[in-house]
Amino acid sequence: MALISKDILQAKKLLEEENIVAIPTETVYGLAGNTFAENSLVKIFEAKNRPFFDPLISHTSDWKRTKDFVLNFPEQYLPLIEAFPKGALTLLLPKKNNVPDLATSGLPHVAVRVPDHDLTLSLLDKLDFPLSAPSANPFGYISPTTAQHVEAQLGEKIPFILDGGACEVGIESTIIGLENGELTIFRLGGIAIEHLENILNKKLSIKIHQSSNPKTAGQLDSHYAPRKPLYLIKNYPMTIGDKITIENLGKFSPKNVGFLGFSDILSVIPLKNQFILSENNDFAEASKRLFAGLRYLDELPLDIILAELAPNYSLGRAINDRLVRASYKV
Ligand code: TXA
Ligand code: MG
Repeated sequence: MALISKDILQAKKLLEEENIVAIPTETVYGLAGNTFAENSLVKIFEAKNRPFFDPLISHTSDWKRTKDFVLNFPEQYLPLIEAFPKGALTLLLPKKNNVPDLATSGLPHVAVRVPDHDLTLSLLDKLDFPLSAPSANPFGYISPTTAQHVEAQLGEKIPFILDGGACEVGIESTIIGLENGELTIFRLGGIAIEHLENILNKKLSIKIHQSSNPKTAGQLDSHYAPRKPLYLIKNYPMTIGDKITIENLGKFSPKNVGFLGFSDILSVIPLKNQFILSENNDFAEASKRLFAGLRYLDELPLDIILAELAPNYSLGRAINDRLVRASYKV
């Protein structure tokens, strides 16, 4: 069992001794270690069972502090950090040699973010190194949005979970890098692409890699996945009780089928097997509840989970990216 606590001084001490600690952020909980200490990074990969080719995001308390570990800060990023001095935005920056190759899986850029979470910001303020932190879940499983989610899966493998309550955003950060000098989205996330385009006053190109490392294309398209097979309902808006009927549930009895809905219930399935993301069609609320909903359904005695895709714009696109990766691959 890990100690679940709000004591940042204890977290600080453990991190300075090159231990790993789960930390809250506004997106999801991270599993953190000293970016500069290879020893800590190895512990992160081992606890998560994460392949070494999947690079980590470094967290710092202020973009200014990146000068300690990045070579330069491309000016294309300046409007973004002005708009988001902290938040669900990760930028790819050319790394200095003090960032071990392990943190970037050998890539020349390090992913950096300033999380918008008071407890973790005060912890980062007290440290003289950034914290590398992937999401605090076993590799491939649903990301954690509470300290209890972390404890349930990694409690045996880590000493300490800093408890910052439930994550407000609920899905991982939006990742932006430069491709031929142009700002490019590498992962859809907690800041909607339309919001970024408004700030920049231009369209952004999107280059989502199937795998997490651009150099290992196609290896990792299954992610964020529950243990039960999850099937997507693709047509939005769907006609409740029409497109999905007891007949086309095939061999499955409705009492063994779960449903993750965007805003409406599915009449053919018992209510207790259903989790609705936002009855008010609110993307922020839906994002915040997404991973908790998947966990809720994964823990019920069900054979399969059906999931309805969100309307495909704003944060709905990031939600859909997660659902597609969580879905069952034949
Ligand atoms: O919101 C978040 O970003 C959360 C919280 C904890 O900050 N972290 C997170 O980390 O989602 P993780 O490990 O689950 O996802 C990190 C992803 C990698 O899988 C990869 O896609 C991308 O960030 N990444 C990291 N470093 C990169 C690099 N140098 N080049 C390209 N992509 C990189
Ligand atoms: Mg992750």
